[in-house]
Amino acid sequence: MKILGIETSCDETGVAIYDEHKGLIAEALYSQVDLHAKYGGVVPELASRDHIRKLLPLIKTLFAESSLSLSDINAIGYTAGPGLIGALLVGAMFAKSLAYGLHIPCIPIHHMEAHLLAALMCDKKPSFPFLALLVSGGHTLLVDVKSLGHYKILGETIDDAVGEAFDKTAKLLGLPYPGGKALSDLAKKGKKDRFQFPRPMMEKPGLDFSFSGLKTFAVNTWLQSEQKQQTKADIAYAFQHAVVETLVGKCKRALKQTGLRQLVVAGGVGANQLLRQQLKHLLAEFEGQVFFPPEQYCTDNGAMIAFAAFHRFKQHHYDKDLALRVFPRWSLEDLQI
Ligand code: KG4
Ligand code: ZN
Repeated sequence: MKILGIETSCDETGVAIYDEHKGLIAEALYSQVDLHAKYGGVVPELASRDHIRKLLPLIKTLFAESSLSLSDINAIGYTAGPGLIGALLVGAMFAKSLAYGLHIPCIPIHHMEAHLLAALMCDKKPSFPFLALLVSGGHTLLVDVKSLGHYKILGETIDDAVGEAFDKTAKLLGLPYPGGKALSDLAKKGKKDRFQFPRPMMEKPGLDFSFSGLKTFAVNTWLQSEQKQQTKADIAYAFQHAVVETLVGKCKRALKQTGLRQLVVAGGVGANQLLRQQLKHLLAEFEGQVFFPPEQYCTDNGAMIAFAAFHRFKQHHYDKDLALRVFPRWSLEDLQI
């Protein structure tokens, strides 16, 4: 059985084919990062239009490179939410039309479930149950992953997502979009004790996050300092440490609270080296294990949608009609098994 996966929830057009026996057999990805860079963030209408332009050529490339034809495909999975409504509609419309034409099932996929399950595509994988930290430009979630389809959100951001806070602070420091990687590179040149940033929500009980205050703290620090290149690096250093220590602090609480000893990290911010290093130490302290899926499966991609669709297909989770249903906001806890 082979499943075609289609991801169009934000600014990446991703397609992939997952084979029941061989695993992932083909994938292609197009990132719109350059398109949005000059606006300093994703412009939803431009994102939708670009998905329309890129989806069909990408699918053609996928089939050409894998030497497969459409008749080899048994089902199609597409991201039905959460995400940008226009972008989601492009993927949903394409997937449903193609599935209808091929007389095969079409499977709506929750984008965040796909991120959680992506860790299971890798050779070194966790077993259920595990704790997951999802940290991207749009999401910051701590999830108790009990089993397929059973997710409990333990904590989430009450304002900016962690990647968003990285991007906004990077913009303030004059770094290009998306700024997370550039900011963490700049932080390497920063001095350790020059600025002390707060660790938001750490003094309160619970597992929720708040990152928008850190961005404001960075702005104020910059405005009140001598505005030199070294100051930028010192702010980057202090900001990154505050974010990472807050994330690690909340993971520690979640490990204690749940008794879980496996942690999966997904989302673009999972590429942050300081975060990786500190989470490895944390899990060693708990005699547990941390799993970082390869970077290309941490960020948005079609492979995770094809993989999640394979699992959903086995549970007969198909669309029953041709109506287009996408969900820009959709909690993981509202997913049905
Ligand atoms: O998961 P992702 O690729 O896309 C979505 O948000 O959908 O995550 C992108 C986010 C951006 O905010 C980017 O700045 C951040 O991940 N990011 C990083 C690093 N690499 C990417 N943040 C901190 N450190 C990094 N090394
Ligand atoms: Zn994502």
